[in-house]
Amino acid sequence: MRHLTSLFNLSSEDVREILALASDLKSRLRRGERPALLAGHVLTQVFEKPSLRTRLSFDAAMMQLGGSSIFLTGKDAGLEGREAVSDVARVIGGYSDIIALRTFKQSLIEDFARWSGKPVINGLSNDCHPCQALADALTIFEAFGSFEGLRVAYIGDGNNVAVSLAEVCGHVGMNFSIGTPPEYELPRSFIEQLKQRFPKLDVLESNDPYAAAANADVIYTDVWASMGQEDEKEARQKDFKGFQVDTALMQSAHRKARFMHCLPARRGLEVSNDVMDGPQSLCFPQAENRMHLAKAALVWGVQ
Ligand code: CP
Ligand code: NVA
Repeated sequence: MRHLTSLFNLSSEDVREILALASDLKSRLRRGERPALLAGHVLTQVFEKPSLRTRLSFDAAMMQLGGSSIFLTGKDAGLEGREAVSDVARVIGGYSDIIALRTFKQSLIEDFARWSGKPVINGLSNDCHPCQALADALTIFEAFGSFEGLRVAYIGDGNNVAVSLAEVCGHVGMNFSIGTPPEYELPRSFIEQLKQRFPKLDVLESNDPYAAAANADVIYTDVWASMGQEDEKEARQKDFKGFQVDTALMQSAHRKARFMHCLPARRGLEVSNDVMDGPQSLCFPQAENRMHLAKAALVWGVQ
């Protein structure tokens, strides 16, 4: 039994194992194979925030692997104070073979890992989004054929998606650049931990999106206001002026650079329509890879 609570908690060998498994399960599906690796298994998903890709990718993954899944909102599960978190986790653990959570607090995911007795997968918290970054690494590997010498530039808010993307770069040996407006940088403490954990990782931080995009093979962005930050939406739109990924920014990266976005996107804000729908965009293969990665995370977790 293994937890996938954050990428910091995984070894680089774990990351490579999950990516290899995802790639293998994807090829097998392409050949029409749906191995019943989780026959009779039950996944319980408890989500405190909305989701299309994460929820659906875990559901589809369980169905294709011969298992089933149950969905509960945080409120349904009683996480809003009906009973102690440790009690909820132990009860859910009694009915489930594996648990996926989408939460505000990362500590809730760690509490489930501690109390449920079952493998726990982080389906996004305020702090990080590990399954997203793993699926992104799979997508990048498929597009470039290798991780060697690649630079990923994240443009936008120093948020949960940026954290996991930086960590996956460290694990697989890609370089990482980040361009954010002032006050929206990744926390200093995180950057220090990142450099300590991955001494070979080349990290470039800038408040200029063009400086961050220079020499990048992948330009990545995410929404400027994440779930839970709806009240800050207007202020953020002002603060992020000049940080849209548009054709001019794409042209300042490598000629063969690709565009990525975890989705959902706010078209016309963090990304222009022509970039999102253009030939350099990988965002829909990236979304599909969430399912192949979900399968790998589930199979890896129960082993
Ligand atoms: N990228 C992602 O996690 O999408 P959802 O919020 O739709 O799950
Ligand atoms: N940063 C975004 C990612 C959504 C997949 C959020 O947390 O809302």
